[in-house]
This record gives sequence, C-alpha cells and structure tokens, in this order.
Amino acid sequence: MSRMSPTDKQQKLLLEVPSPEKLRDSNYDPLPSIWNGDDAELLDKMLNFYPRKKPKDILDATVNGGRIWRGLDWNFIGMDIDPAQNPDVVADNTDMPFDDSSFDVVVYDPPHIPNQGKDRSKDFNTRFGLTRKSPKEEGYNFSFMFPPFTREAYRVLRREGLLLCKIADYIHNHRYQWAHIELVRAAQEVGFKACDCIIKIRKGPIVDPRWRVAHHARRQHVYWLVFRKSDKCE
Ligand SMILES: C[S@@+](CC[C@H](N)C(=O)[O-])C[C@H]1O[C@@H](n2cnc3c(N)ncnc32)[C@H](O)[C@@H]1O
Repeated sequence: MSRMSPTDKQQKLLLEVPSPEKLRDSNYDPLPSIWNGDDAELLDKMLNFYPRKKPKDILDATVNGGRIWRGLDWNFIGMDIDPAQNPDVVADNTDMPFDDSSFDVVVYDPPHIPNQGKDRSKDFNTRFGLTRKSPKEEGYNFSFMFPPFTREAYRVLRREGLLLCKIADYIHNHRYQWAHIELVRAAQEVGFKACDCIIKIRKGPIVDPRWRVAHHARRQHVYWLVFRKSDKCE
C-alpha cells in the first residue's frame, strides 16, 4: 500500500508543532498552577512566561515596600497612594497620572484585609497595606475599588499588555468575601481577557484571634490572576 503524502496544510502543521526535542532544548519553562514558593520568585517567572516579548515598561500600582520585587532585576515604576511608602509616584490607581498605552505590564496587590479594630490597626497597616478604610455602605470590603482600577489599568496598558494581580478572598462580617471573583468580573467588564489563575500557598492560615472557633475553612492561599488586554490569551 502506498503511503499518502501530507497535504500542504498538514505539512504546515507538522512544521509548526515543535518536536519534544525542540521543546526540551528551548527556554520553555512550564509554570505550575499551585505555587509553594515566595511572591518574588513567582512574579519573576510570570514576567518571563506570559509576555509575548520582554516587557520594557512595568508599573506596580500598589508598591508599598516593594517586597514582591525583592531580589529581582526588573525595572519598574512603583506607585502608591500613601506617601509614607516613598513610592516613585504618589497617586491613586483609580485615577492614574499616565498616558494611554504607556505600559507592558501592570502589577496590582491591593489591601486584602478589611477594617480591623483600632488596637490592631498598626500591625495590619504594615502587613497588609491597609492605609484606608472601607466604608459600611461598601460592605466593609475593597471590591468597590476594582472597577475604577481595572478601567485605568486597561487604559494605561498597551495592546497585549498584562495585568498581574495578587488577590485574597476572606471571611468578614459573617460572609465569605469573593474578592477574586469580583476582580475577574471588573476586569472582564472593561475588556480584559481573564487568562490564568495560580494558587499561591501561604505558610500558614490567617487566624484572627477574636474568632478562634469559626465554621469556615481557614484561608491558606492567595490567587495570582493574569489578565491580558487582548481578545485571546496566548
Ligand atoms: C498589600 S500592600 C502592597 C504590598 C506590596 N506589593 C509589597 O510587596 O510590598 C497594598 C498597597 O496598596 C496601596 N493602595 C491602596 N489603595 C490604593 C490606591 N487607590 N492607589 C494606589 N495605592 C493604593 C496601599 O497604600 C498599600 O501600600
């Protein structure tokens, strides 16, 4: 029996699919969806993994002490609303002082924990960057900041640019607060493609000393969500 020769289309496909040898030899470094290491290492991997070309202009829209950049070699502009953090730019990320299409990547790590009692506010300020309060009418959470922030992030990003967000769900006011879902909704609403979700495991769960007995699973993870200003992910 004579073997059929591949059509032009099949031939093209065969040429496009990299061989296992080629994949092994290339710099391709798969990214796991569960991350046990620290933020800086993961951020570095994401910045090498998702962009179609090496990003030049990077904005950290909630820089605080810049802990997630510790030991990394990326140039970025650090912005924060709190001048006490000595950011490169003091500004509100819901109203950014940048032109349209200025960045290849925006990083966002907003305050994760809602209002705490006065006695513990100092500690929470340092650990979670809680420099502003969430009012009662906003349900004591920060989700109300997501729509204006994602609108601005979309505006200042170039086409194909990436938005990388660290976000935690939590229980507050006797309710599960679905922060990561609120953020996905807000980002999709302004036109982002929601492209990936990495679960970062924390060393231990957050346990509020006032609620030693609580009937919900202790949060022991945060999410890193990846959005692209594009109509496709890869
Ligand atoms: C969780 S901390 C960020 C920690 C930081 N990624 C790090 O590794 O050190 C959150 C920061 O967001 C800042 N922030 C809160 N609301 C903001 C806003 N509307 N615009 C800009 N920064 C804001 C806070 O001042 C705080 O410093």
